[in-house]
Amino acid sequence: MSVILYVAVIAVGAWLLYFKRASSPPKLDLPYLEFEGDNSASRYKTESESILRRGYGKRGTYYGIDLGTFYLIEPLQRACAAAYAKEMPPCSEWTSVLPYPLLIKIFASMSACAIVGPKLDGLDSEWQRLSMDYVSAALSAPSKVRAKYPRWLYWLSQYINDGVKTMWKHRSRARELLTPVLQSRIDATAELKAKGVKKHKGARKYEDGVQWLLDAHTAQGKVLTPDQLAQDLLVIMTASIHSTSGACLANIFDMLEHPEALSDVTQEILLVQSKLPGGVWTRKALGDLRLLDSFMRESARVHALTQYTSAQRIPTSTWKFKDGLEIPSGFTMAFPSYHHGFDPAIHPHPDTFDAYRHLRKRQESDTHKFHFASVSEDMLNWGTGRHACPGRFFAQETLKLLIIHLLTHYEFRYAEGTEEMPRFLPSNLFIVPNPALPLLFKECKVSL
Ligand code: HEM
Repeated sequence: MSVILYVAVIAVGAWLLYFKRASSPPKLDLPYLEFEGDNSASRYKTESESILRRGYGKRGTYYGIDLGTFYLIEPLQRACAAAYAKEMPPCSEWTSVLPYPLLIKIFASMSACAIVGPKLDGLDSEWQRLSMDYVSAALSAPSKVRAKYPRWLYWLSQYINDGVKTMWKHRSRARELLTPVLQSRIDATAELKAKGVKKHKGARKYEDGVQWLLDAHTAQGKVLTPDQLAQDLLVIMTASIHSTSGACLANIFDMLEHPEALSDVTQEILLVQSKLPGGVWTRKALGDLRLLDSFMRESARVHALTQYTSAQRIPTSTWKFKDGLEIPSGFTMAFPSYHHGFDPAIHPHPDTFDAYRHLRKRQESDTHKFHFASVSEDMLNWGTGRHACPGRFFAQETLKLLIIHLLTHYEFRYAEGTEEMPRFLPSNLFIVPNPALPLLFKECKVSL
């Protein structure tokens, strides 16, 4: 009996090994860039930027990086199109603050306001806590599942992996919270229809993500269920919260590093603010902040909106580019957006932080190409094509509102003793502003 058990254990072990092997991808017939000397997996976690930099200099070649199935296509980079701020500490003395957790809360609230509307929105509301917890689980669970289980066992993770279980639990609670919200949108839409009001901007009672998703589903002849709504909204929250918070913290660090530009940015804000009808910021007024816009785009260029690469795609069947390059199904391809931002052929003097760079380009070209949220050949950080970030305009406006509030209500500086702390931290293919770096804030109303 014990022999049978022994053989069975070995057979199951061999079977598991076989499937793990079978599910890891083969290498492509391409030059792979590696670290010289020690090429262990741990170096890819913290030093992948140096490999990407080396690769960026190799014009005209494709190359692979062995991160499982990761793959960069260098030559294409040129051709491709390419009021919650009240949470800030109310202090008149210098107070030490870790900005990142605060920014997460602020942007979660701003997103909730636009996405689920006034009923569920609000600082410290259940929706806000739920969406933040969901996002943390959604960002960490997939890599844990990939590291722990072979591909063919992924489906089991919803029962045995804590992160995935948390996501399902929150999705189910989100469904309960959203059910009456969705019903109110359905009723309001039916009421408009009964009155014979034609659908046009301003006719709708609600203008938020729930209404837009309902309209989009209805237009396609589909029924929007509370569960589908919960899933769609939580995906949007996942795409929005950390990306915007990271971009904001990068801007704050850049403001501290470039006080000369900051004083011009503040003057511009105060000037536009002094002409606001009723003192209310409108989208048009935000659009008049052209120097701030250029500053934010320069920050995005230099820190790549936290990602070394962008526009990742995984073809589901072999994808063939016009020049013959073939990417097999299942491989990840991406563009080297960070190094594109430092290419002197695209951005003269790329190592200089020039807050006016994109403003000058706008003035010279008289196009809409060089706004913070523009997807253009000189900046690949928003991705490309029909999947380019659809939330970038929203990110642009929320970032501007937060920066306006910050610059007109606070002074801020680095805390003593933090000189040696890194401002940005590499992590795999991300480069994130250091969330553990404390800053000092002091309340201080700024006026013209
Ligand atoms: C500074 C903040 C943000 C950054 C840096 C950012 C960046 C990106 C990038 C690089 C992509 C992939 C584009 C591609 O593959 O071509 C993307 C996709 C996406 N983003 Fe953003 N994003 C930000 C804010 C937001 C916000 C605020 C929202 C929603 C309110 C949002 C919603 C989305 C969605 C839904 C997608 C998927 C689009 C698709 O696959 O078709 N993002 N984002």
